[in-house]
Amino acid sequence: MTDTDTGIASLGVQLPPLAMDVEVLAALRGVDPAKLTVGLGCREMALCPEGYDVATLAAGAARRALARWGGSLDQIGLLAVGTETAKDMSRPLSAWLADALGLRGAVRSYEVKHACYGGTLALRQALEWRWSGAARGKAALVVAADVALYAPESPGEPTQGAGAVAMVVEAPRVAEVSRASFSYSEPAFDFWRPVGEAYPRVDGPLSLECYVKAAARCFEQLAAERGGREALARLHAACFHVPFPKMVKKAVAGVGEALGLSDAETAAFFEQKVEPTMRWSRRAGNAYGAALWIAVAQTLAGLEQGTPIAAFSYGSGFGAELMTLTAGPDAAAGAWVAEVEADLASRTLVDADRYLALRAAERGQGIQ
Ligand code: HMG
Repeated sequence: MTDTDTGIASLGVQLPPLAMDVEVLAALRGVDPAKLTVGLGCREMALCPEGYDVATLAAGAARRALARWGGSLDQIGLLAVGTETAKDMSRPLSAWLADALGLRGAVRSYEVKHACYGGTLALRQALEWRWSGAARGKAALVVAADVALYAPESPGEPTQGAGAVAMVVEAPRVAEVSRASFSYSEPAFDFWRPVGEAYPRVDGPLSLECYVKAAARCFEQLAAERGGREALARLHAACFHVPFPKMVKKAVAGVGEALGLSDAETAAFFEQKVEPTMRWSRRAGNAYGAALWIAVAQTLAGLEQGTPIAAFSYGSGFGAELMTLTAGPDAAAGAWVAEVEADLASRTLVDADRYLALRAAERGQGIQ
């Protein structure tokens, strides 16, 4: 196999064993549940129990992707983890993951940080490493993993979540990824977490504005190169980073405006090609870097080979990238779906007391 024969060879998703219905959070915080379910479009947020962290999630997703890939660890020459859930200011999360997997030797192992965009950057680097020939036939293991927690009682709290998606980058059995991608970045303080602080600071309205702008600018580039309406019509689906589902609807409205679509065309695009991609996202909450890839994993499953989809990645600060993927021969079987459905079916929905205890335990673990 040549290095140019590259794409996503295998996928693994891991969700944690706890979750909370946002209506329970609404009752706890004294807000109208419709604000969270209708206003934000949220349903449940995934949560980690004590002792289960971002490294646990990353290792779970990686083991699933590796088991399905069938290759051996000594075929992996690059391990990149995109995360904003730092365990250490220096030691990369990839070191915890390599330890869990028993991966060592001739491997470039590192962490990528760019808010929710880190996992996508790690994936693009792995693809480009293969396409460049530098991989010399080796595969890459890329993981996007995060635990998203906001300060208790802050506006972001209902949008919390957690999850990890691992991808082996080698033969395009699950999906091919377009070499061309459309990026946009602009420095902003929309969402950030100063060193030493446990929870992000957020300028909510600015964060919405930046996300919408980034989506519009990326889709404009796609439209300029591949046509506007025609390019959207060719897509089977369009997956977005999902901080909360209503955000995606707002972004699609911005894209429609930028591309000169009528309100009816924009609404149809959202309902037919975007809304259906967020079924798992509504159960996971915002898994930051993993959020887009959870939607992509759900969407690819069951697709016939060659079916095109789009993936729009956004990370605060801010940076964004839009790319297209086409389903590979293993997409139709969607072997990873059973694992995700099992994670969702077996997890415990916590009540308000358990939630408060979990939040208190964060402080016990050194999180202030
Ligand atoms: P808020 O201030 O609580 O909400 O925070 P709001 O007052 O703006 O209301 C939200 C919506 O609920 C509004 O709908 C209300 O009308 C509606 P809209 O007008 O916008 O369509 N509403 C109701 N609907 C039905 N019944 C009711 C009711 N009451 C109100 N009774 C905010 C919202 C998003 C700011 C907050 O959740 C937040 O700070 N979230 C975190 C930041 C975020 O997710 N930003 C998104 C873009 S940035 C991004 O995606 C990057 C990120 O993932 C981080 C990274 O990159 O690492 C966050």
